[in-house]
Amino acid sequence: MSSHAPAGPQAPADQAADIAAQLAVDPHAAYARLREEGPAHRIAGTDGRPAWLVTRYEDVRRGLADARLSLDKRHALPGNYAGMQLPPALDANLLNMDPPDHTRIRRLVSQAFTPQRVERLRDPVRRTADLLLDALPAEGPADLVAAYAAPLPIAVICDLLGVPASERRDFRSWTDALVAPDPSRPELARAAVGSMLGYLTDLIAGKRRQPEDDLLSAMIAARDEGRRLSEDELLSLAFLILFAGYENTVQLIGNAVVALLAHPDQLAALRADRNLLATAVDELMRFDTPAPLAIRRFPREDVDFGGVTVPAGETVLLSIASAHRDPERFPDPDRLLLDRPATGQLALGHGIHYCLGAPLARLETEIALDALLTRFPRLALAVPEPGLRRRPSMRARGLVELPVTY
Ligand code: HEM
Repeated sequence: MSSHAPAGPQAPADQAADIAAQLAVDPHAAYARLREEGPAHRIAGTDGRPAWLVTRYEDVRRGLADARLSLDKRHALPGNYAGMQLPPALDANLLNMDPPDHTRIRRLVSQAFTPQRVERLRDPVRRTADLLLDALPAEGPADLVAAYAAPLPIAVICDLLGVPASERRDFRSWTDALVAPDPSRPELARAAVGSMLGYLTDLIAGKRRQPEDDLLSAMIAARDEGRRLSEDELLSLAFLILFAGYENTVQLIGNAVVALLAHPDQLAALRADRNLLATAVDELMRFDTPAPLAIRRFPREDVDFGGVTVPAGETVLLSIASAHRDPERFPDPDRLLLDRPATGQLALGHGIHYCLGAPLARLETEIALDALLTRFPRLALAVPEPGLRRRPSMRARGLVELPVTY
């Protein structure tokens, strides 16, 4: 792509594919160019079909809360969108819905997913974090994704939903197959979907027989007693909480550890003053968010982004990662500055789809980092940062492994 490439509907298909390829290699350099060139760009989306990538902070923030941008696939032009195909029992989830269905289900789950329920997880999260650190080999290196960043959120989400210890599974292989599917082996993603559906169906049947004081039982009661949720909606909600609650948190913990280890001055400041943690988590989310793109949206009518009109029914990708490096909003955006006021970051979304698990995501990340830094005063990357293996995905930014010494 030349630096003066036109950014409009006339942009040739190979140019759109080219932008996607550059985003995969060096996203921040590519985003910086795209923000300069224009507010919205025609690219090859995550499904290979044409999409519009929105790159500037104000446009992304406004887009996240714009009711004209639908999350319901029925508003996509026929043939224009070919995203992940899920069975109806997993697809009827909040991130595919607009009001009034979204409002009804979100209200139900918010009543069950209370701040008290999250707060009750604080001590168990800390205990699990400490146990996982105890279990690391005495001598490094160790892979911190496999040994810490992945098992911690699995334990937490199971505690929240009320999954008994004997029923816990390693969700990692399932979610990996969905988030970064191998295009040459589509059967793996299909098998993962089947496994998750079977697992959730069994789990719900078990809870129906033996309800307890947990989130899943509360959701089942909303279905069975109030008839306020269909069976597909119940399964889809459990799927979304399991998937979103696990996947993003693993990647955020991994990305945050890398960012800290790659910025020794910032790490030293945090070690010296742990009160920085709360603001630091906002800045770490801004700096390297695990969810670089919001869920795709489909305009119900033509929508203008800074002078570029996106026609109704086309696919809009709001780039949260690019918004986070927009110098108009965050001065000196490529620097990690843990004491900067980064509360305007959009890693957890904005508007009616704002992350339902936001307080839990924050709590987990703060505890994970605090426990790790407390335990290992000499924590370091075992390979230089450019050598770390990342997942080949435009949609999810995360590590395959994180080798560290301690
Ligand atoms: C660091 C971790 C997390 C990140 C970065 C994250 C990010 C996000 C984002 C960006 C959205 C909005 C998507 C959009 O509007 O396009 C969202 C929604 C959502 N998140 Fe999270 N999330 C995280 C953790 C969690 C956890 C722990 C849970 C549950 C326990 C969760 C459950 C949800 C749900 C259910 C929604 C849909 C809300 C709705 O549509 O009303 N997330 N998340």
